[in-house]
Amino acid sequence: RKPWTVPMLRAAKQDGRRMAMLTCYDASFARAVDAAGVDLVLVGDSLGMVMQGHDSTLPVTVEDIAYHTACVARSLRYALLVADMPFQGDASPQRALDAATAFLRAGAAMVKIEGAGPKLEVIRHLVEREIPVCSHLGLTPQAVLRMGGYKVQGRDDATAMLLREQARQVVEAGAELVVLEGVPSGLAEAITAEIEVATIGIGAGPHCDGQVLVLHDMLGMDSGHRRPKFVKDFLAEGGSIVGAMRAYAEAVREGRFPAAEHSYT
Ligand code: KIV
Ligand code: NA
Repeated sequence: RKPWTVPMLRAAKQDGRRMAMLTCYDASFARAVDAAGVDLVLVGDSLGMVMQGHDSTLPVTVEDIAYHTACVARSLRYALLVADMPFQGDASPQRALDAATAFLRAGAAMVKIEGAGPKLEVIRHLVEREIPVCSHLGLTPQAVLRMGGYKVQGRDDATAMLLREQARQVVEAGAELVVLEGVPSGLAEAITAEIEVATIGIGAGPHCDGQVLVLHDMLGMDSGHRRPKFVKDFLAEGGSIVGAMRAYAEAVREGRFPAAEHSYT
């Protein structure tokens, strides 16, 4: 087993090797995720809900992400560590650069940025300064107020076209990975075929180059919210925490997860 590097992401897509990603927020779970052979680890701003008990990701700060990134990084030997840019951490290219620099110093290899539009300039600013960027498109939770809830995106022709355009734009701006969240599986399939960098789906159907889930969701923990359709509890079949992570990683690699029942059409 070789430690993951950013260039290996494109190679994995070319070779048709599906990648399994999980969120993680602390050193103990990070040790388990790494032992289970999970490829990519995300210190998501979902920590606002999972760790801090907020209703959304909006209260999460750059300092919060840097702290949890440092905790997770100490345990990882193989998985590639991605840190999430929190709400308004990327309000300007310079702010984004300061935050991303803190995340790389804390041990991240890549920084995830929600959205396109004004974020294209942010992506370019980071990539030109040697900071690898993962884009996040579709249902972007930091836009919850504008969306009026967590709603599947790209269901009509116009918004589907817009999303395909955004995917091309973020790759053009230098993104090396694209998370697609909450989009119909046919649209995620089309985007995955159209761009040369790997797509990582969550609620985006089975045709992406990889998958991501929130750690606590795949361990069947009650979030206090209705469990979304795309979540599967792997603890029952895995038998233990590491076993659940291993079962998830294998199901993603073999194309058994997600199934149609976890997808939107
Ligand atoms: O914050 C997070 O956990 C995420 C993933 C669900 C993609 O952004
Ligand atoms: Na996030």
